Amino acid sequence: MAHIIIVGNYQELSNKAADIFLQQLKSNPKSVFGLPTGETPLELYNILANAYRKYGYDFSQISTFNLDEYVGVKATHKQSYHFFMYKNLFNHINIKKVNIHIPDGCASDLNRHCLAYENLIQTHPIDLQILGIGRNGHIGFNEPGSPADSITRVVNLSAQTIKDNARFFNSKKDVPQQAITMGIKTIMSAKKIILLASGQNKAEAVYSMIESKISEQCPASLLRNHPNVYIITDNSAASLLHKNKISKYLVSS
Ligand code: PGA
Repeated sequence: MAHIIIVGNYQELSNKAADIFLQQLKSNPKSVFGLPTGETPLELYNILANAYRKYGYDFSQISTFNLDEYVGVKATHKQSYHFFMYKNLFNHINIKKVNIHIPDGCASDLNRHCLAYENLIQTHPIDLQILGIGRNGHIGFNEPGSPADSITRVVNLSAQTIKDNARFFNSKKDVPQQAITMGIKTIMSAKKIILLASGQNKAEAVYSMIESKISEQCPASLLRNHPNVYIITDNSAASLLHKNKISKYLVSS
């Protein structure tokens, strides 16, 4: 069952997510976290970096698994999710490099790598998975139509995503066409999940996730079958929700 927390703005959303993250860390210093990239978690990562620098939180025993990575983009490329994670989080906390896991989009045998990544997650179950949501309801790179029983695998990027990404790469041939992503089943195997949605441009996705019927056409809606999921949205992202209809899921922040 989903718990829905509606807060005033992006800062409050990030504070709330950080509270849950740091509570998890305190309750088990060896926690395993699932992590997203994207704009949404940036302030959360900033708060976590501060928690280390200013308040002495210790990240030395945690492990992390990232949700996804582009195929064919080197870890050193500025658009890679490897680069993003080091720049925005890992370089600023005392996590051990050996405990950081991000899919390798340049692995020589991608399918084998995906299976190994999946197996590693199953043997190191994720305590807390953090997610963003795409405007089309995707989670990770699980686009609409992704099977509920999907595991870590290579997926083709949608024409829209390829077009949107073109501006970040020097030439057309460098724009990734595929990505590795945890599957829906992989994500659902986490013990606890928090999904963050901020801004008006996520309002339709949030509405479909919460109020439409549960369907692979809106991958995020499948999370409603998870026993321990928290959806944290700001007022803008929650603007299409009918609060009277979903009142039993609302949790006060
Ligand atoms: P965003 O991406 O945080 O940059 O909005 C979320 C997503 O597409 O999953």
